Amino acid sequence: MTENATTREDTMQPIVRVRTSDMDLPADECRIPTRSEPCTIVIAGATGDLTARKLMPALFNLYCNEGLPESFAIVGCGRTELSDQRFRKKISAALNDESDDRSRHQHFIKSLYYLPITYDDPESYSRLAELLNEVDSRHHTGGNRIFYLALPPTLYKTVANMLGKAGLGREKKDGNGWARLVVEKPFGHNLESAIELDRGIHRHFKEHQVFRIDHYLAKETVQNVLMFRFANTIFEPVWNRRYIKSVEVTATETLGVEHRAGYYEKAGVLRDMFQNHMMQLLALTTMEPPSRFEADRVRDERIKLFRSLRPFPVNRLQDFLVLGQYGRGTVDGKSVPAYREETDVAPESLTPTYARMKVFVDNWRWQGIPFILTSGKRMARKVTQIAIQFREVPHSMFRQVLGETINPNRLTLGIYPEEEISLTFQTKTPGPRVCLRNVTMDFFYHQKDTGLKLEAYEKVLLDCMLGDHMLFWRQDAVEQCWSFLTPILAECETCGDRAQTLQTYPAGSWGPETTHKL
Ligand code: BG6
Repeated sequence: MTENATTREDTMQPIVRVRTSDMDLPADECRIPTRSEPCTIVIAGATGDLTARKLMPALFNLYCNEGLPESFAIVGCGRTELSDQRFRKKISAALNDESDDRSRHQHFIKSLYYLPITYDDPESYSRLAELLNEVDSRHHTGGNRIFYLALPPTLYKTVANMLGKAGLGREKKDGNGWARLVVEKPFGHNLESAIELDRGIHRHFKEHQVFRIDHYLAKETVQNVLMFRFANTIFEPVWNRRYIKSVEVTATETLGVEHRAGYYEKAGVLRDMFQNHMMQLLALTTMEPPSRFEADRVRDERIKLFRSLRPFPVNRLQDFLVLGQYGRGTVDGKSVPAYREETDVAPESLTPTYARMKVFVDNWRWQGIPFILTSGKRMARKVTQIAIQFREVPHSMFRQVLGETINPNRLTLGIYPEEEISLTFQTKTPGPRVCLRNVTMDFFYHQKDTGLKLEAYEKVLLDCMLGDHMLFWRQDAVEQCWSFLTPILAECETCGDRAQTLQTYPAGSWGPETTHKL
């Protein structure tokens, strides 16, 4: 999607609203299904931004909705010297809990502990093991542990290794006393480093113990793509090359690099958004139906899709890929600096903050259909959506009367800002003349909702406690996506005309001018 991006405000078309059925499940049916087994959640990087902004609020919210086990404890670890009391105070403030129920808040806070550690010091992990044993007996958490690495990726291998050496990756044979390791993307920097990282993690943790997060998969409306496709009969017969002309997957944002230049300068948009989120959105849209809605069956279908990606024609990069970097501009009415003027960004940086890529899926269903993936920072609007463009009618009996082509149908699976499904089709305009108009049928995801809404981090934490891998990356898929992207990255990062290939776009725009040529 570029300047053609359509959201509800733009399209002044008549809107048909969709009614949800009166047969909806009662609210209780949509609540958290089962409580997980007792466990201790260990957060490495507990004084960092992610812990305060996302993890603790997510855990607290789960706690308030009976999503945490009845017996639980949370142990924060970090380089900073803090006592339990100071850590509790800090987290209490970060929770921003305005409810009157202080006892709930107090109870949650009392289950927090803190241990200062040095990440590469074996002594620290012996102390952690001792503390976890104490916490286990105090909170009856049965030796079940989640180790969440809220750390810079450069530390993943070291910490996984140290945890393993301290015996913290070991599980009992009878299924009790489990140990799970949670890592966030980026999983490596390219294929080689991803394999290397995995080898390091697997030295002490088996694949079933590893949970690789992609927060996009945990978004409700992203999960809904599978329900929409495979719980309805009417879409599947047209979900193929005969009826679909092209598909656009878009994830643009208005934010710039913020305080993450240290990471982003090395990653750029291809590693930051394409290797993970964009690939998952593509897979959900195009994969074959799994025989059962079970983690490995769904993940098997996703990997098959990744394997079907046509190798990128790196010798004709410019026909398939547009890369850009934001210059100065205006976003939401405010002047913002160029990427190269952001803190910690090199003044001559060639890191792309925007990419638009055309990919093909070489299988029976999708042969010849272009999939356009677009993502960029500091764009005109934050929009996340999958737009399915259907083909024109094969023959128009109205052509002589209307003298115009008939707009083909378009289906939009909106993830942000509108969590919606909308289908555009043609109807007759009321009145004596024969004219057509586009109408849009909208389903707003949260209309008449009955269930409990879980934020992405709440969902991944809950699934990890329940041991459900459905929304997590499996290593084979990580490697397959790197196999696809690594040659592109290698070409983009080494070619002599790198500076000319990277186009500047004004912040607050829809990307480089040449973007339409794809
Ligand atoms: C993260 C990227 O994974 O996703 C960020 O590292 C990006 O650069 C973010 O801003 C976008 O996520 P969301 O949920 O806001 O679309």
